[in-house]
Amino acid sequence: MILTYWRNTVSLQTFSLEKNIMSVFPYILGIESSCDDTSAAVICGTKILSNVIAEQKIHAEFGGVVPELASREHQQNIIPVVDTALKRARIDKKQLAAIACTNGPGLLGSLLVGSSFAKGLALSLNIPIIMVDHLQAHVLANFLDTENNCNKPEFPFLCLTVSGGHTLLLMVHDYFKMEVLGRTIDDAAGETFDKAAKILRLNYPGGPIIDKLARQGDPKKFKFSVAKLPDLNFSFSGLKTSFLYFVRDRLAENPNFIEENINDLAASIQFHIIESLTVKIEKALKTYKCTNIALSGGVAANSELRKRMQELGKKYNLRVTIPPLALTTDNAAMIACYGYFKFLQKEFAELNAVPYSSV
Ligand code: KG4
Ligand code: ZN
Repeated sequence: MILTYWRNTVSLQTFSLEKNIMSVFPYILGIESSCDDTSAAVICGTKILSNVIAEQKIHAEFGGVVPELASREHQQNIIPVVDTALKRARIDKKQLAAIACTNGPGLLGSLLVGSSFAKGLALSLNIPIIMVDHLQAHVLANFLDTENNCNKPEFPFLCLTVSGGHTLLLMVHDYFKMEVLGRTIDDAAGETFDKAAKILRLNYPGGPIIDKLARQGDPKKFKFSVAKLPDLNFSFSGLKTSFLYFVRDRLAENPNFIEENINDLAASIQFHIIESLTVKIEKALKTYKCTNIALSGGVAANSELRKRMQELGKKYNLRVTIPPLALTTDNAAMIACYGYFKFLQKEFAELNAVPYSSV
């Protein structure tokens, strides 16, 4: 059955006139539940009115996300998180023009909680539902209003999208057309941070912990082997194995090796990961003409990577856009933002849309 009854009934005028909304921009509710964060946000145009994130601490003791537990936590969190997002935005749900939710990629059980809830709420309010790709939404986080509002990327721009599950080098032609120039052929950059942290007996997620420790360490202290792919693809499994064997061998000589060298180990593995990423940006810049580069995804929170992007900007005379920290890791404001651009195109989904787990 295809449920499309609202398709031609919602026009760009109706959200402002019939619902008596003060703003000329629509209020969009975004819902994100692709992995282990339950998030809801309300935006008005590209202005964030609220962005609520409930992190699931339960996974830390398992050293990674447990899909079954993640779905259950989403089920518990979704109603209070959406309720809080509406309250913080100071709007009533009846003022919403549409609901955007993540449809994939991600953990299927987690996605089903968010998307089913979004569909139910949209149906009850008789407003459109908009399905959003999580990775594209990470890229569009660069278009949300920030304090430094004038710094939004101009099309086309090169965007490095680095998260726990994905590593992509994209040429972004417009809000919807994103060309994949390179991708990881094995582990993702965030996954490499997390696995390295596990080897160092640090908690999950390890990326932010390594970032913090690395600030006190020497990035050139230890050397590991890195993959040298001829194209724009990335590979991190060799680096991960090299790091694992290195630490294992040093521990055999000195059981306190990790504790005694933790800052240098963190700085060195971080240096190798970032080097593997930035070398591909420089390579792409030689082939593809663009004047803007951008960063997105959870690993974009990394302080050293942010610094290196700015340095690349100076070196190649490029405008650099990096979302503020809160908009790099998973959040619903980026989902709502993509939803807003789809709303303008009236790209609404059917109620029988099904989430997808991988790209
Ligand atoms: O985008 P995201 O929140 O979730 C996914 O879609 O995967 O990314 C999470 C990833 C994790 O691997 C986490 O360790 C990494 O982003 N991450 C960082 C930092 N903050 C988060 N990696 C390095 N440095 C950070 N500061
Ligand atoms: Zn993500």
